Amino acid sequence: MKFNVLVTHKLLPEAMAYLQSHVDLELCPEKDALTKQDIIQKIGDKDGLLCLLTDEIDREIIAAASRLRIIANCAVGFNNIDFASARAKGILVTNTPGVLTETTAELTWALILSVARRIPQAHVFTRNKNFKGWEFDLFLGKDIRGKRLGIIGLGRIGKAVAQRAAAFQMEIVYFDLHRLSAEDEKKFQATYLSLDDLLRTADIISIHASMTGEAYHLISADRIRLMKKDAILINVARGPIVDEKALAAALEKGQIWGAGLDVYEREPDIEEKLFGLDNVVLLPHIGSATYETRLKMAMAASKNLVQGLRGERPDNLVT
Ligand code: DGY
Repeated sequence: MKFNVLVTHKLLPEAMAYLQSHVDLELCPEKDALTKQDIIQKIGDKDGLLCLLTDEIDREIIAAASRLRIIANCAVGFNNIDFASARAKGILVTNTPGVLTETTAELTWALILSVARRIPQAHVFTRNKNFKGWEFDLFLGKDIRGKRLGIIGLGRIGKAVAQRAAAFQMEIVYFDLHRLSAEDEKKFQATYLSLDDLLRTADIISIHASMTGEAYHLISADRIRLMKKDAILINVARGPIVDEKALAAALEKGQIWGAGLDVYEREPDIEEKLFGLDNVVLLPHIGSATYETRLKMAMAASKNLVQGLRGERPDNLVT
């Protein structure tokens, strides 16, 4: 039996072929995202929805979904979906954990190194033909080796970031709502600290927490004030975890040394002040953006969808 499915955005060809062989697709062919009204209009006769993190699947969309059985999100984060409303209607929600862990950890390290060694700024300088010869104090950055790395959220991605820190002989401290077992703390060489102690003492702070209600503005103006004057803040998790205005103000005042951001509070909008600052590296939410990983994500989301439609328990059911 074929099922009616809405796919909000074209995925990679392998995943589209898999979907086409299992379900009847209504695909949004345009490059631009479907509007909320488009989704409301299309969702009524659909059994399944495969969406991206940019699709806000809210209460009204879910109310319009009279026969929907599953929402398969092609992302690990699922804060774009009103999970409570979906659950109340018995609609399954799935995500794509695991497959993007290492890729996102690699991007985190790329950001850490970019901020610490001012690589994007030096690249632009060189490309603009400004390199006139070796200079003693040209683009002085910061060492990483031996520094204290503070990880906020030591889940899958946080752990993969911690493992790579060993190459730089860093000391790892972490904060998480759920403290690791003693065995895991030993395995990841990570010491638990309260959030405020982590912020007060870490040289590099990297955020890998999930976007729950409690995480909103976890890094507030007051918390930024706790950070060391030469600290670096990295966020590859979700934008609203950091008060972006407060961060921009702190960077402008030189209250901390630098920041590297892959995510923003109101994507695709970015706090205007950040564009004018030299001590921040800005990326366009590309944490998991490698061909290999995006293919794995698309396949995982597609398989979750088909499993849910067939009445099987999807591999990545959000509970
Ligand atoms: C996710 O899957 O939540 C990531 O942010 C995608 O890059």
